[in-house]
Amino acid sequence: MEGKVVLITGGAGGIGMATAQLFLDNGAKVALVDINEAALEQAKAALKGTSDDVTVIQADVTKEADVENYVKQTVDTFRKIDVFFNNAGINGPAREMTDLEKETFDTIMSINTTGVFLGMKHVIRQMKTQGYGSIINTASNAAYIGSPGMAGYIASKHAVAGLTKTAALEAAGSNIRVNAVAPAAIDTQMLVDIQNNLSPGQPDVSGEAIKQGIPFRRFGAPQEVAEIVLFLASDKASFVTGSLYNVDGGMQAD
Ligand code: NAI
Repeated sequence: MEGKVVLITGGAGGIGMATAQLFLDNGAKVALVDINEAALEQAKAALKGTSDDVTVIQADVTKEADVENYVKQTVDTFRKIDVFFNNAGINGPAREMTDLEKETFDTIMSINTTGVFLGMKHVIRQMKTQGYGSIINTASNAAYIGSPGMAGYIASKHAVAGLTKTAALEAAGSNIRVNAVAPAAIDTQMLVDIQNNLSPGQPDVSGEAIKQGIPFRRFGAPQEVAEIVLFLASDKASFVTGSLYNVDGGMQAD
């Protein structure tokens, strides 16, 4: 990854930051995009590396002008985008479809699906001018299954799987690979929020129940997702495109 430029959305979050650190450790430069400006500044301060190797860009992935701007700023700063980790996402409240407001459903779809689409739209344009690139979208085990109370999240991640496969086919002739990671139960703020949704104020109660449904009986660490992103970004994955890689302690096999 020496000299490579990696653009990461949701870069101030758990999986985004762990991935940024791993790429920095491997010699890359990283551009972190997030809606949360304060968290971006904290992330930049916490990441170990040369400050010249990290740039942060505040953006809302649902707004096309913001997306165009984060692509432009990354290229202005680092001249190119070798790797795009299209990762920003939210979970949303646990509520059955009959009680789910359209606005809530739309918000989840807008960030998790439209944000991923817009990111690929503008990054693939840039990568085509370069003649190469690797994109990794963040799907989820929610891309394969149904889950009561999670209609927005489930629908949005199924859509990420479809966008990944379609972009992989559209970009195959341009030396651009497009894959996805499909994590589950990774120890980040999002998982804490899910636990609090399921057992309000007692995250450990639902946390234990979630672990019992994971063959490894533990949560995953964000670094364990980052390692798969690094592999997919690298030339070691040169014949891999259109794939979803599970990082879920065996949940999908169960
Ligand atoms: P996180 O909550 O730590 O990070 C998500 C980041 O996305 C936050 O920093 C947040 O500010 C940012 N974000 C939210 N809306 C945004 C917007 N409109 N524009 C720009 N940035 C925005 O959660 P985590 O776990 O790091 O999530 C990263 C990805 O991993 C998400 O796509 C999530 O759906 C996915 N995922 C997470 C799992 C888990 O168990 N933690 C399991 C499966 C998938």
